[in-house]
Amino acid sequence: MDNFYFYSPTYFVFGKDEENRTGELVKKFGGSKVLVHYGGGSVVRSGLLDRVKKSLTNAGIEYVELGGVKPNPRSGLVYEGIDLCRAEGVDFVLAVGGGSTIDSAKAIAAGTVYDGDFWDFYCGKYIDKALPIGTILTIAAAGSEGSGDSVITNENGMFKRGATGDGIRPTFSILNPQLTTTLPPYQTACGITDIMAHLMERYLTNTDDVVTTDRMIEGLLLAMIEEGPKVIADPLDYEARANIMWAGMMAHNNSCGVGRSQDWNSHDIEHELSALYDCAHGAGLAVTFPAYLSFAYKHDVKRLVQWAVRVWGCEDSGDDEATVAEGIRRFREFLKAIGMPGSITEFGGKAEDIDHLAHSACFGNGRDGYLHGFVKLSEDDVKEIYRRML
Ligand code: NZQ
Ligand code: ZN
Repeated sequence: MDNFYFYSPTYFVFGKDEENRTGELVKKFGGSKVLVHYGGGSVVRSGLLDRVKKSLTNAGIEYVELGGVKPNPRSGLVYEGIDLCRAEGVDFVLAVGGGSTIDSAKAIAAGTVYDGDFWDFYCGKYIDKALPIGTILTIAAAGSEGSGDSVITNENGMFKRGATGDGIRPTFSILNPQLTTTLPPYQTACGITDIMAHLMERYLTNTDDVVTTDRMIEGLLLAMIEEGPKVIADPLDYEARANIMWAGMMAHNNSCGVGRSQDWNSHDIEHELSALYDCAHGAGLAVTFPAYLSFAYKHDVKRLVQWAVRVWGCEDSGDDEATVAEGIRRFREFLKAIGMPGSITEFGGKAEDIDHLAHSACFGNGRDGYLHGFVKLSEDDVKEIYRRML
C-alpha cells in the first residue's frame, strides 16, 4: 500500500425530511448570505426548493438564486454565478440537485475567491480555497456530495474536464433517499452505473497488497448488484434507495481509493461522449466500461479474474481469459437489465466521430497524447476502444 493523505471534512446528514434542517446547517457552518443553485426544474416541481428556501428564511439566512444548471454543466453559467456571488456578497454556496448542480456550485465557489479565470482549475490547478459549499442531493450517482472533484463542460469547444482539490469538498451534505424517488428509471440506472464505475476505476490498480480497499470495493459492488434491480423494480423502495445513496458517497469520497493507484481511463474516454452527444454520464459509462475492460484486461489478468470471481460469482476454471470474458459478459447483462445502452449508437454515436473523440481524449486541453491509467493508452488504443462501443 502507498503512503496517503485523506481529508474528508464533510458533515453528512442522512435520512427522511432532513432537508428541513438546511438553514440550521448553513448557520452552523458560518453562512449568512447564500447562493441557492439548482438545475432545470426538478427541484421546483417536487417542492424541494420551496422547503429549502423556507428553512433558510426560518433561520434568518438571506439568499439569492441561480437555476438552470444543465446535465453536463456548462462554463457559461459558472461565470454568471461567480459574478452574482461577487455582486451580492455571497459567503456560502448551496447546491440543490444532482452531480451537475453540485459541480457547478463547486466551480462558482472556487471561482468567486480566485483572481484569475476559474477554468485554470480545469487545466490542472489544484483548488485549495473556495467559499464553503453545502449540498442537498437529489440523485445517487456522481458522488460529488463527498468528493473533492468537479467536472465542467467548456462551451468554447464543448469538451469536458475535471478539477480537484480539498477546497471544494462540501462542508455539509444532506442525503435524503426520499428525494430520489421522483427520478425517472433511466436516471436512476445511470446513477447506479456511475457508482459502479467509480468503484471499478479504483479496483483497477497497479498497487499490490491493497486487500482492505479491494474488499471494500467488492462489498460495495455486491451491494449495488443486490440493491440496483430492487429500485428499478420498485422506485419507491426506500431502503434500497438509502443503500444506493450511501454507496454512491462511499464509492467516490475516496475512502476506497486511498493508498493505491487508480485508473480513470474509462471516465476520460466517457467524458468525450457526454461532451459531444450530451448523453447522460452514466449511460456513456455503461458502454465505455465493458469495452475498455475487453481491451485492457490483459495488463493484469489475475486482477480481473479476482473481480469476475468475487463480484460476478464466476467459477475460477483455470482458464483466465474465459473467466474474465464471463465476468465482462455478466457485467454487460446487468447493465442491460437495469436499462442501460449497450452501444454508442443508442445515444447518437457514429463511427465517423471516432477520430475526433480519440484525439480530444488524448490531446485536448494540454494532454500529452496518452491516457495514463491502469494501462497507458495511445490515441490508436482509444480509437479501438471507441470502435468496440459501436
Ligand atoms: O436539472 P434537473 O431538472 O434537476 O434534472 C436532473 C437532470 O436532468 C434530473 N434529476 C436529478 N435529480 C432528480 C432529477 N429528476 C427528478 N427527480 C430527481 N430527484 O436528473 C438529470 C441528471 O442530473 P445530473 O445532476 O446531471 O446527474 P448526475 O448526478 O449523474 O451528475 C452527472 C454529472 O456529474 C459529473 C458527470 O460528468 C456529469 O457532468 N461527475 C462528477 C463527479 C464529481 N464531481 O466527483 C464524478 C463523476 O465521475 C462525474 O464525472
Ligand atoms: Zn462518474
